[in-house]
Amino acid sequence: MDFIHALRSALPSSTLSVDSEILSSHAHDTALGQDYLPASVVIFPSSDAEVTIILEISNRFSIPIVPRGAGTGMTGGCNVVGPCIVLSFVRMNRILEIDLANRIAVVEPGVITGDLQELARSHGLYYPPDPASSDRCTIGGNVAENAGGPSAFKYGVTRQYVTGLSGFYVDGTPFHLGGKLYKNVAGYDLLSLMVGQEGTLSVITKIYLRLIPYPRFRATFRASFSNYDQAIAALQAACTSSVYPAAAEFMDRTCVDAVRLHLGIEVPDGDAFVLFQLDGDQSECDVLRDVCLTHGAHDIEIALSDEDQDAFWKIRRSVSESLTAMSIAKRSHDIVVPPDQIGPYLRRAKALGKQEGVTVLGYGHLGDGNIHVNILQTGPAPILESLTEKLLRLAVDMGGSITGEHGIGLTKKKYLNLMFSDRDIACMKAIKEAFDPKGLLNPGKIF
Ligand code: MLT
Ligand code: ZN
Repeated sequence: MDFIHALRSALPSSTLSVDSEILSSHAHDTALGQDYLPASVVIFPSSDAEVTIILEISNRFSIPIVPRGAGTGMTGGCNVVGPCIVLSFVRMNRILEIDLANRIAVVEPGVITGDLQELARSHGLYYPPDPASSDRCTIGGNVAENAGGPSAFKYGVTRQYVTGLSGFYVDGTPFHLGGKLYKNVAGYDLLSLMVGQEGTLSVITKIYLRLIPYPRFRATFRASFSNYDQAIAALQAACTSSVYPAAAEFMDRTCVDAVRLHLGIEVPDGDAFVLFQLDGDQSECDVLRDVCLTHGAHDIEIALSDEDQDAFWKIRRSVSESLTAMSIAKRSHDIVVPPDQIGPYLRRAKALGKQEGVTVLGYGHLGDGNIHVNILQTGPAPILESLTEKLLRLAVDMGGSITGEHGIGLTKKKYLNLMFSDRDIACMKAIKEAFDPKGLLNPGKIF
């Protein structure tokens, strides 16, 4: 193919791969049941200069580009849908600066989120966004998806930490938005628009991130409740007693059973198992314990050492893989409802699953109402796409959203109209057209 020849002539050979295994492994993320085609070529640039060359060739041959990080996304956001150049940022993985005076990190997109968190911590600073895959996902991918995680309840999502971005428009024109700036209201907020764009508007090569002081104290608190409503009421009571947990994560009985089986560990019984993370001071543990007991909690346990806290969090982090291990097929959606609707939503969602002979369950982010609603096939009845639609529609009807952290990608694009009017979608398409008139960036995603 001519464009591959042009790429070969312009770039060092170590930058480019057409190995069939690489073409296939770099053609998708972790979305289950989602089709993809092999990439035509995968490029691993290590500098802005190489990115510029790739964009010039993409334009000259009108060949699309699919930017990607570690491929840990869950909606097919970097899946290949036709001939294209896959642009993997894993080699642009330098933490360029930890600016202590301004409390800003400047990083390349391929930096692993957990590595940045660790380095920031060694300076007494904290980068809160913590997707479940933080030991392997990249900051670039987090920016593309506006990733969240458990700490989003208190600290917010990736967008709240991005103070600046540099990179290129699709035609190779460089851009620099924001910088080491804590306040900036000049013009339309292009910087925010670039976060959560799912690789469809621009190519980002440098990211400025706000860091905050590392909490002085940290404890993880586990409790089991008989139902979600009790857990929600306990969280509400904690917040009005001046205790604001950094995270409040829940999982239902099926998740607890799946983790028990998969990891072979003891997890207390209960229909709503909750992990709270506290990072105020030790006295908050007593307040939270009282509030939880008042709301019917049992098997309360508090971990203070890093090791004990990690053991509690391992339960939560293992839910997804444990559910995969116990099912024939699985679909996972990250709907959002107002937090006090978690119980009512899950009761109605489970009933919908029952009607179709499959298991519906939920776990996730109690504090912000972001539920990972999963459909499991454990018997002969298959998972029907119509059930996904019913579960997403239910969330929207209850005042919620079809995605809280995983994005639209391929898997949710047919449901965009559940949330947006034709006019809203026309505005979004006009934005896409303004940034990428030839439709070369990450085709087939969002719309
Ligand atoms: C999580 O919260 O664990 C992640 O968003 C991934 C998921 O399980 O859906
Ligand atoms: Zn999540």
